[in-house]
Amino acid sequence: MGTAAKTVMERCELLGGLSEDPDGIFRPYGSGSMREVNRLVSGWMRSAGLSVRTDAVGNLIGRYEGEAPETLVLGSHLDTVRDAGKYDGVLGVMIALSCVEQLGERRLPFSVEVVAFCDEEGVRFGTTYLGSSAFSGRFDGRLLDFGDEAGISLREAVRDFGGEPGTLVGAAPRRNLLGYCEVHIEQGPVLEHKNLPVGVVAGIQGQSRVRVSFTGGAGHAGTVPMQNRRDALCAASEFVLEVERAAKPGPDVVATVGELRVLPGASNVIPSSVVLSLDLRHPEDATRKRLRDALEERARGISTARGLGLGWEVRQESAAVPMHRGLSGTLRRAVESTGVSPLELPSGAGHDAAGMAAVAAAAMLFVRCRGGVSHNPAESVEEADVAVAVEVVGEFLRRLAEERA
Ligand code: GLV
Ligand code: MN
Ligand code: MN
Repeated sequence: MGTAAKTVMERCELLGGLSEDPDGIFRPYGSGSMREVNRLVSGWMRSAGLSVRTDAVGNLIGRYEGEAPETLVLGSHLDTVRDAGKYDGVLGVMIALSCVEQLGERRLPFSVEVVAFCDEEGVRFGTTYLGSSAFSGRFDGRLLDFGDEAGISLREAVRDFGGEPGTLVGAAPRRNLLGYCEVHIEQGPVLEHKNLPVGVVAGIQGQSRVRVSFTGGAGHAGTVPMQNRRDALCAASEFVLEVERAAKPGPDVVATVGELRVLPGASNVIPSSVVLSLDLRHPEDATRKRLRDALEERARGISTARGLGLGWEVRQESAAVPMHRGLSGTLRRAVESTGVSPLELPSGAGHDAAGMAAVAAAAMLFVRCRGGVSHNPAESVEEADVAVAVEVVGEFLRRLAEERA
């Protein structure tokens, strides 16, 4: 097995030790542990001969200068969900870096940027792809007013992270890109079932993220009669089950309430307010939007019936994105050349490639992960599969260079 794959595995392990949480991996946007990973990774980038910069939102970019300024971007993200695994995002950045390291003194007929996006998961502000939307010059300025749980605005968070919120809005779309290629763990069971180490992504399904709040009235748990209550948690509970009911018949729809904040949060106080997250996904945008609107109507019905207030803030709408046929074809041929059958598969998870597809031909390579498990500390990949992915990306670069020679 190649030493490159071994180094990739060791680096993923090392970065897994950088976290906001002593008992698990948690690296939200703008955190101290994000600064630490950027510091460590920028050191590796410099040692590989890359010129390193951080952009206005905090993406870390290592540039290899080729014979022409036209640039291929290789990357993924370094932020994580709460209690995350070691590989979601990190693996793609480490493989990208490894492939550029292996170029050594060799000059390609194009330049390459290894990009470590600073926020793909969207845990802190409830909206994903902050990093890739800024990198591609498509940042939505309205997001700057979004607040995190502590009431810190994204504008402040960008500034605290060393970025420049003022220059994010109205930045020119990134030009002269040859393409974008991202390696990522599959986060699903298909490759494992097919006994394949890697696969080529056909497209990424769309998603909506909504911040929903039910507002009632606090009161004494021992004295307020049941019929006089405006209990926000009871309304939220009804809604959570509605979400499950709406998604269960499928096909292909997935809907999740992953966060629930109950205020004031005491065992002897009737909950006055609940803020929850809704994450809704489907391969077809029209179906997803129909379901989103139907759930808003249900939430209004529930709050009206209980005499509560409702907040419905759509924080994110990402359309389903097909990967680029031409660039994916080159990737598929690179897979084939390693002796692996080139399976095409869809992505249920969101990826930076979805944001990058607006400004560049985008392609993705999935790497098998054990049990299809992700967003979980049990996330696991085999070094042998990582070695295949490293070889495929190396071959992909070689083929692109040949096409341009
Ligand atoms: C990212 O992992 C997402 O799909 O939410
Ligand atoms: Mn990811
Ligand atoms: Mn993820």
